[in-house]
Amino acid sequence: MVKIAPSILSADFSKLGDEIKNVEQGGADYIHVDVMDGHFVPNITIGPLIVEAIKPKTKLPLDVHLMIENPDAYIPMFAEAGASIITVHQEASRHLHRTIQLIKDNGVKAGVVLNPATPVDTIKDILHEIDMVLIMTVNPGFGGQSFIHHGVQKIEQVADWRNEFNLSFEIEVDGGVNRDTAKLCTDAGADVLVAGSAIFKQSNRRQAIDQITQSIEK
Ligand code: DX5
Ligand code: ZN
Repeated sequence: MVKIAPSILSADFSKLGDEIKNVEQGGADYIHVDVMDGHFVPNITIGPLIVEAIKPKTKLPLDVHLMIENPDAYIPMFAEAGASIITVHQEASRHLHRTIQLIKDNGVKAGVVLNPATPVDTIKDILHEIDMVLIMTVNPGFGGQSFIHHGVQKIEQVADWRNEFNLSFEIEVDGGVNRDTAKLCTDAGADVLVAGSAIFKQSNRRQAIDQITQSIEK
C-alpha cells in the first residue's frame, strides 16, 4: 500500500494544528515537514519550535525534510522536537555517512534526498545504512511546481538496487505529485508520495487524498 505524506508547506499556517488533524482524518500516513533555511534553498520556513508545537496534534509520523546547510548542527534539535524521520540532502552533507549516523544516534529514522540534477550513484554506498530515499521531482524551495519527469528513472534505479541488495528502505517522491503524476512514481517503485498543493489547495482533503490513491489503482 502506497503511503501519502501531505506537505504542510501548502497548509494554512494560521491554523496548522487543525490542518494536520484534517489530513490525518482524511487518510494521510505521514506528515511531511519542509524545513528551509534561506541558504540551501531560496525560502525560509519551519524550525524545531514548529515541529515541537505540531507533534502533540497528530499520531502520524513527522517526516522532516531538511533543506538546510550544515544539517548536523540542527539534527539533534529536530529529533528532540519530535521528528520521526529526518531526511538530509546529499548536496548539503559533506560527510553523509556521519550525518546519517548522527540522525540514527538521535533515535530517529534516517533518509537521504536527491535534487533533480544529482545522480543516484552518489548514494549507492549509503543505501544499506538508511531507512528512506527521497527523490525530488522539483527543485526544492517552493510548493506548486511542475513534476520533473526524469525523476522517474531515478526511482526505478533505486528500486532496482533495493531488490539487488535485498534492502528495505522506503522510496519517497516529492514535488509536483498529483493525480496525474502519482502513478508514474508508484509504477517505478515509490512507496511514499509527498503532496502539498494537490492536497492542501483543495477544501476536501479526504477527497484530494482519495483522488491520488485512486489514480494509482487505475
Ligand atoms: C519543495 C518541498 C515539497 C513541496 C511539495 O521544496 O520539498 O515538499 O511542499 O509541494 P507540491 O506537492 O505542491 O509540489
Ligand atoms: Zn519536501
